[in-house]
Amino acid sequence: MNVGAAWRGVRDLFRKAGIDTAELDARLFAEAAFEMDRLELVNREREAVPAKQLKALEAFAARRLKGEPVVRILGEKEFWGLSFKLNAATLVPRPETELLVERGLEVIGALNSPHILDLGTGTGCIPISLLTEYSDVSAVAVDLSAEALEMARLNANRHGVGNRFTTLKGSWFDPLEPGERFDLITSNPPYIESAVIAGLMPEVREHDPRLALDGGPDGLAAYRAIAAEAGLFLAADGVLLLEIGSGQGHTVSDIFVGAGFAEVDVVPDLAGLDRMVVARLNSAP
Ligand SMILES: C[S@@+](CC[C@H](N)C(=O)[O-])C[C@H]1O[C@@H](n2cnc3c(N)ncnc32)[C@H](O)[C@@H]1O
Repeated sequence: MNVGAAWRGVRDLFRKAGIDTAELDARLFAEAAFEMDRLELVNREREAVPAKQLKALEAFAARRLKGEPVVRILGEKEFWGLSFKLNAATLVPRPETELLVERGLEVIGALNSPHILDLGTGTGCIPISLLTEYSDVSAVAVDLSAEALEMARLNANRHGVGNRFTTLKGSWFDPLEPGERFDLITSNPPYIESAVIAGLMPEVREHDPRLALDGGPDGLAAYRAIAAEAGLFLAADGVLLLEIGSGQGHTVSDIFVGAGFAEVDVVPDLAGLDRMVVARLNSAP
C-alpha cells in the first residue's frame, strides 16, 4: 500500500465513524506513523509504506475509533510554543493555562535568580515554560503522582532546563523543606466538583486522570489546602498565581483573603471568564 492510499483509507474510516476532523486526524497519524512532515506526506504519497509503519497507523486509527483524543494517542501537546510529552497520569495542557505563564514572566522578569514553585505540575508545562524564558530561574515542581513527575522530568530535559528543575513527590507543600521561600508560586490544581466529572465530555472524563480533575465536593479542596500553607513558603513580596474554574473567582478570593493574603485579584481570560487568581501576602510596593 502506498502512503496516499494508506492515510486516505484511515480518513474514510473516520468519516464513516462520524469524526468531524477525519482528514486532519488521519494526516496527523500518518505523519507520526510514517515519520514524515506535512509536505512529505504529499510529496512522497506514491511511496510504498513498510509493514511496520502501516501497523503503527492502524493502531493509532483503532484507538481513535474508540474515542481516544488525538493528542493522547500522539502522546504530546504544544503549550507555550513547546511540545510536552504526555502519559496516562498527566493532564493535557490547556491553552488557557498559558495565562499563568504570561503573568509569571511579568513577576520574575524583574527579579535576580528567582526561585519558583509549581504545585500539581503534571507535564511540568508551567515551570518548564518559565525556565525556558530566563536562564537564571530555578524551579521546584510538586505532584502527588510519581508517573506525572517522571514525565515532567523528561519534558524538562527535552527542553534543556533539567539542571534547574527539581521534582518532589507529595501533597502540595508536604515534600518541601520548612523555611524554603519562593518568589513565585504557580498552580493549576484540580478544580472540578466531583459530581460534575461524570457529565464532562468523554475525551476529558475518560482520558484525563481523575487526580488532575477532581477538586472535591465543591471543587475548592485544593485551594483550601494551598491557602492554608502558602504563607509559609512565599517570599515576603512573592506572588501566588492560581488557575481557577470560570465562576470560582469570588470563592477562591475569599479563601485567600481569609488565609491572610493582603491583595487578591481575579483575572479573566480572553473570553471574559474568571481564569486566574493573583494573591500577595503584602500589598505590592
Ligand atoms: C489540573 S492538573 C494540572 C497539571 C499541569 N500543571 C497543567 O496545568 O497542565 C492538576 C495536577 O495536580 C496534581 N495533584 C492532585 N492532587 C494533588 C496533591 N494533593 N498534591 C500535589 N499534586 C496534586 C495532579 O496529579 C495533576 O497533575
